[in-house]
Amino acid sequence: MARPVIWIPRHLSAATLERACQNYDVLLKNEDTPGTAEEIVEMSARADGMIPCHSEHFTAEIAGRLDPRLKIVANHSVGTDHCDLKALKARGITVTNTPGVLNDATAELAVMLMLGAARRAVEGDRIVRSGAWDSWSPAFIVGKQVTGARLGIVGMGGVGRSLAKKARGFDMEVHYHNRRRLGPDAEQGATYHETVESLLEVSDFLSLNCPATPETMGMMNADMFARMPRGSILVNAARGSLVDEDALIGAIEDGHLAGAGLDCFVTEPGGNLAFAEHENIVMMPHAGSATVKTRDAMGFRALDNLDAFFAGDEPKDAL
Ligand code: 8YV
Repeated sequence: MARPVIWIPRHLSAATLERACQNYDVLLKNEDTPGTAEEIVEMSARADGMIPCHSEHFTAEIAGRLDPRLKIVANHSVGTDHCDLKALKARGITVTNTPGVLNDATAELAVMLMLGAARRAVEGDRIVRSGAWDSWSPAFIVGKQVTGARLGIVGMGGVGRSLAKKARGFDMEVHYHNRRRLGPDAEQGATYHETVESLLEVSDFLSLNCPATPETMGMMNADMFARMPRGSILVNAARGSLVDEDALIGAIEDGHLAGAGLDCFVTEPGGNLAFAEHENIVMMPHAGSATVKTRDAMGFRALDNLDAFFAGDEPKDAL
């Protein structure tokens, strides 16, 4: 039987490509740029499967134009908000994601953003790097202590739980909100809040680790920021659309929030240059899962799903 053809629009890890080429005829794009609607539609007539990232958008409109040749979209991402799952399902296309394998890398980045915002990393780096460090005082660059503080986590899936584990290393008091309360083994002593509102009120640090859904989009608005304690810090390594960015700027400018650590933005790529005016906002360009180990693991997980599908089995991560 002919080998299945797959399309890989982005530059995945070398180990992923090497493994992909062992089992598939692989179509690649030279430039590492997001696959456009036209490219996705065109490639659906040439490939049996695809490994897109969150940068390739499968809207209902695009799903309606896909060629029947395309049978599986094996995402190289845990988030699937770039895919209209209902529309793809209606076309008989299997969709998978890569849960689990990026929990630690993403939680590590959330810790970095939390510490960076708390200890004024952007400002400190700028002062030393620019040669502007000309004096020292005990009142100089005083930040907020993480150890012993309360951490609120919205979304206690794999990333949220990994973050909670790391936070316990800082003796943080972990609080969380999740659609469902976790069992005691997974909770590990964390305090459950039935509402996000109640969680915000006790969060010296608040980390967003939930998916972007119609229910969560724009969730962090001015009213919600006002509920957080004065001097608290927001961390978002999930999705930019969870946050009303104007409301966040407002909360930073009036000093209600002491800082923020952001890996995700409403507009990506690009971010929001209004944030750049504030050195108490630490930013990264959507790099939560960007470690060598995790990129390989994500690529392999997407390939595991493709392998299962083309062997006639149900992929482990079918949605
Ligand atoms: C990735 C992500 O950087 O998995 C997700 O949902 O947002 C990130 O881990 C990206 O999707 C890579 O494909």
